[in-house]
Order: sequence, then structure tokens, then C-alpha cells
Amino acid sequence: MAEYNFETHDYDVVVVGAGGAGLRATLGMAEQGLRTACVTKVFPTRSHTVAAQGGIAASLSNMGPDHWQWHMFDTVKGSDWLGDTDAMEYLAREAPKAVYELEHYGVPFSRTEEGKIYQRPFGGHTTEFGEGPPVQRTCAAADRTGHAILHTLYGQSLKNNAEFYVEYFAIDLIMSDDGICQGVVCWKLDDGTMHVFNAKMVVLATGGYGRAYFSATSAHTCTGDGGGMVARTGLPLQDMEFVQFHPTGIYGSGCLITEGARGEGGYLTNSEGERFMERYAPHYKDLAPRDYVSRCMTMEIREGRGVGAEGDHIHLNLSHLPAEALAERLPGISESARIFAGVDVTKEPIPVLPTVHYNMGGIPTNYWGEVLNPTAKDPNAVVPGLMAVGEAGCASVHGANRLGSNSLIDLVVFGRAAAIRAGKVVDRDAPLAEVSRAATDKAFDRFDGLRYAKGTTPTAELRLEMQKTMQADAAVFRASDTLAHGLEKMTSIAGKLDDIKVTDTSLIWNSDLMETLELTNLMPNALTTIAGAEARKESRGAHAHEDFGTRDDDNWRVHTLSRVDGDQVDLRYRPVILDRLTDETKGGIELEKIAPKVRTF
Ligand code: FUM
Repeated sequence: MAEYNFETHDYDVVVVGAGGAGLRATLGMAEQGLRTACVTKVFPTRSHTVAAQGGIAASLSNMGPDHWQWHMFDTVKGSDWLGDTDAMEYLAREAPKAVYELEHYGVPFSRTEEGKIYQRPFGGHTTEFGEGPPVQRTCAAADRTGHAILHTLYGQSLKNNAEFYVEYFAIDLIMSDDGICQGVVCWKLDDGTMHVFNAKMVVLATGGYGRAYFSATSAHTCTGDGGGMVARTGLPLQDMEFVQFHPTGIYGSGCLITEGARGEGGYLTNSEGERFMERYAPHYKDLAPRDYVSRCMTMEIREGRGVGAEGDHIHLNLSHLPAEALAERLPGISESARIFAGVDVTKEPIPVLPTVHYNMGGIPTNYWGEVLNPTAKDPNAVVPGLMAVGEAGCASVHGANRLGSNSLIDLVVFGRAAAIRAGKVVDRDAPLAEVSRAATDKAFDRFDGLRYAKGTTPTAELRLEMQKTMQADAAVFRASDTLAHGLEKMTSIAGKLDDIKVTDTSLIWNSDLMETLELTNLMPNALTTIAGAEARKESRGAHAHEDFGTRDDDNWRVHTLSRVDGDQVDLRYRPVILDRLTDETKGGIELEKIAPKVRTF
């Protein structure tokens, strides 16, 4: 057994991760006087939310008529009818409140002439339950909305006495024998010390796992650490097969060019200079949802109408827009295009390609962020002491496909919801339970095993093999043979974790060991993604299956639950929640409005 000395920290709540969801949860907890720690592997304002560009969706009606029910309808349709109805209602109803709170906390939103929060159009956001024109619903701070939100929430959290543990890497959850989460074991990266955080509630806000793929808009830190920790406790992950490709990653580097660029009037063209989206989506054109636009771009390239020497990408045109508008509304992407594509957006198109951007799946939760325990007899049973919010969680509001700008609103609505719930269920006066020694020992043993791993496969090599396999076999379009091949390959790749080789055994700033720990988190996320995709015999949202081209609600309107044991995945399913929070007699949406239908644009 590995012997490590550790320092113990006692809190009511420990939030793991300091992106938008983690900080909103931290702030909400601290505001209520809960003793709150936020543990994060990067400095809070370097979390991946800082890269969120285009904005945050809420039906404020600042630029024209809007209604929360229209936002809910768009979210339901965007999800391709896989989202949970109660959670989607909660998101759309609470969104305006959550955005006004951000405004009052100090987020520097762009403004209209009248001084209201500026809102722009985004893909899939419409009026009149999808029958009317696109709506301007996405509240923006130029094209640096995530940056603005993150800095504000961090400042507010400090003001409310939340305590930050920066550059602490969470190794594993501490689960008691009877399945209660009691805290988390961490490694402090800058001095090599070990820390046990004991808490009445642990909130996982660790973000997505975009780095399971070769090309992603996600930061290198997006390694699915929360999902990895949960998978190791034997709990399932949900709907992992649904991976979003953003239509406009810069060709080559994968850097994000916000959908706000199309919201402000930009458009896509093929090698014939044709605005091809007019053919595929006559009504919403370039502002159709992301899964749809990504597929159309891929089809154009496959049919020989891609641009560039190899005909393997598409052009995004902005040069027809006034230079002042580009400077005011899209300064960040103008700079990214110059640096990463060598393009002056006032004169030339940007070369773009669908790029992995977001994970719809994650740790299953209810709409309060409480982690579900689907193995319990009661389908609504939760794992005591454990919550998950933001991209790490799956509430599920995005179902099979997320609408642009519904991520930032998810972060703040559900970060806030988790805090509201914790305020009710955490007993501030109760003593902390003593942490399970067996669980902390297990975490240190795993850590030590990786630290001294003497296999033959270097971490970077295995990671690359995983990334290339996921990129090739769990892509925008999938097919039975490629998925079967991908699953077989990923099973073998996951098996090679037993043969990993770590060369640096030191404890201070050991990036070799940290990246190995991250790889052990990426792996279950990647494996469940391809296993879930291989099993799902239909096309829905981001899961476009060439051998099963249509949605099959009779058999597949279900959430996938995947448990991992080494290189094996066990798949089960649970029903989608169809109940609303409020019915029409209390102002809720009519069920008929959100009944499944063919998704056209
Ligand atoms: O295109 C974007 O600005 C990304 C927004 C989002 O993913 O919600």
C-alpha cells in the first residue's frame, strides 16, 4: 500500500472546477454562508469557459418579441427530442433571471442604443415555436462573453469568501462503503503535497472531454476528469455518443470561430462560391443548428465541392460586413483568423471545418444537479453528497444536440440550481462524517501505481492513438462498420493503460504524471462514447448513422447509461423524462407543441 502524508481540509461544499458552472455554483454556495472551497487544476480565469465567444441564450426580448416557451421549444427540437422535459423547461424559464443576475454581478455585456443587453441571432433559435423568423436571443459581450462572465464570477466568489485551491489536481472521489460521497483526494501540482478535502457536498464542474479527439476547439485541459472519477466509482455516464462538431473551427488549428459570426451576417460557401446552406435549410440557412450545418458542410466536401488545394474544407465569409461592425461585434475572431489562418476577415474568407466542440453526454443528474443513481430501485434516487454541473453533467437539456449559446446558460442556470439545492440539503450544523480510509488509500494506490508505471507505452503515444481513432471512427457521420472497427480499436487502446510508461516520478510540476492521470480520465469517456454510438441503431442529433438514417422514437428515445470496467463497457437505457414542471393551466407549454416531429429547417 502506498504511504502518502496528506493535509485534511473540512468544508460544507467542495466544488471541483472553476469554469462558468463551477464558479456560479461556488458563488451561490458562498452567498448562502456555506463554507465553500473551489479546487481547480488551472487558475480560475484560465478555465475553458474563458474561450466561450458568441454568447448566452435567454428570452429577454431586447431586440424583438421572444418568450421562454419559444426558447424551450427550440431546445427540445434542437435536442432531437432526447432532452429531459423538466430540465429543459427549468433552463428556459430561469434563463432571463440568471442573465439579469449576471448583469447585476457586473458582467460587461454589449449594449443596444437604449442601453439594454445586446442580443444576436444564433443557430436554431427561432420565434413562434419554430414557425417564425430567427430570434435575437443570444446575449453577448462582443465575442468574449465567456471571458467576461468568468472574470465577474471569480471576483464575486472572492468577495463572498469562497476559498480557492488553485493548481490542485483531483485524483479521485472519496465514496463511503454505503455509497455516500464524502470528498475528494487532490495532488497540489506546484509543491507535490497531497490533500484530502472532506465535505458534505462535492460538486463536479470539470467540463467536457473534447481532448479525447485529435482536433477540438476545447482547451488541452478538457480531459473529462469528473466523468473519469465517476466512472471509477462504478456509476454510469449518460448519452456519451452525442458529441457536437462546431461547424466553424479554423481549418488546421481547430480554433473556434463563433457562430455569432454567422449571427452577424456571415455565410458559408463551397468551391463554386455557392451559399450552399440555402439549398439544405431554405428557411434558416446558415443559422440552422450545428449538427445540421456540420453534416451539410461534410456532404459538400464529400461531393467534391470543398475549397483549398485538397478540397477538404469550406469558406466562412465575413468581408461583406462593415469593418466597424467586425471591430465592435467580432474583434476576437478577427484576431484569431489573422493569427491562426493568416486571414484578414475584412478582405478574405476564413477556411473552416466542423471541429469537436462539446459533449452533450456526461454524468447523469436531475435538474438540481444531483447525480442520479440509476442502479437504485427508485429511478429518481440520487447519490448522496454528489452533484455535477456544466458540461461535465447531463441534466439532460441538450439531448442529442445542443443549440449554440445554450451552454453558457446551462452553466449559470444549473450552477445556480445546485447552490439553491445545496442550501436546502446540506446541514450546516451537522458534523462532517469521517472520510473512508479505504477510499483514500485506494486513491493514493492508483496515483502511486501510475507514478511508478514501468510499462512500454508512453502516455503521449497512447493518447494520440486514442485521439486519432475517435476522430476517424466517431465522426460527424458514422456507419456500422467504422463504429465496430472503432470500438474494437478503442477497447484495445484502453487495455494498453495497463502498459503505460511514466518516466518522471517527481511530485512537483510533473506534467508527465498529470497527463497520465488525465489520460486515465479521457479513456472511459472515449470508450463509452464509441460503445454508445456503436449500439445506437438510429440517427438522432449529432449521432448521424449512415446505415440507420432516421430517428427511431419507438426504440431509441432513451438515454444511454454506460458503466466502464477496465476496457469493457456495460450499456443500459433509461426513459427520457416527458413530464413538464408546469402544465398549461399554470402557464406551462402545451404538450402538443413539443411532441416529436421531423426536424426540418
Ligand atoms: O460559436 C460560439 O460562440 C460557441 C458558443 C457555444 O458553444 O454555445
